[in-house]
Amino acid sequence: MKAIVLTLTFALVVIAGIVAAQERRLDLKDGPGRAQVEANCGSCHSLDYVLMNSPFLDRNGWDGSVNKMIKVFGAPINAEDAKAIVEYLNTNYGKT
Ligand code: HEC
Repeated sequence: MKAIVLTLTFALVVIAGIVAAQERRLDLKDGPGRAQVEANCGSCHSLDYVLMNSPFLDRNGWDGSVNKMIKVFGAPINAEDAKAIVEYLNTNYGKT
């Protein structure tokens, strides 16, 4: 009986951890362009890269960074989405 309770408790802790981890992925600020960032910028590395770099990058910086993802690393992002992404990142995570 004790073993069953322990097993169930363990399972609950694991499930809670998974749910918390999934919620963390949606931590970006709300606004136009957020969906494009979530759809395009989390496939190769985590979206934390975006948050970690927000103290350093202004509009030009974000423009360069998004272009680098596309040209150097081959991110499949069309020009329209790229524009929305730079706009969103500068507005919400641009260096002030
Ligand atoms: C095709 C894969 C890929 C996609 C998609 C991608 N990145 Fe990256 N990104 C990389 C790689 C590779 C690095 C550098 C290597 C590393 O440090 O892991 C990187 C690094 C970064 C960095 C760290 C600074 C730098 O320039 O090295 C930032 C900021 C960043 N990416 C932002 C973005 C944003 C914003 C998007 C969405 C527009 C995006 N990434 C989409 C592959 C990608």
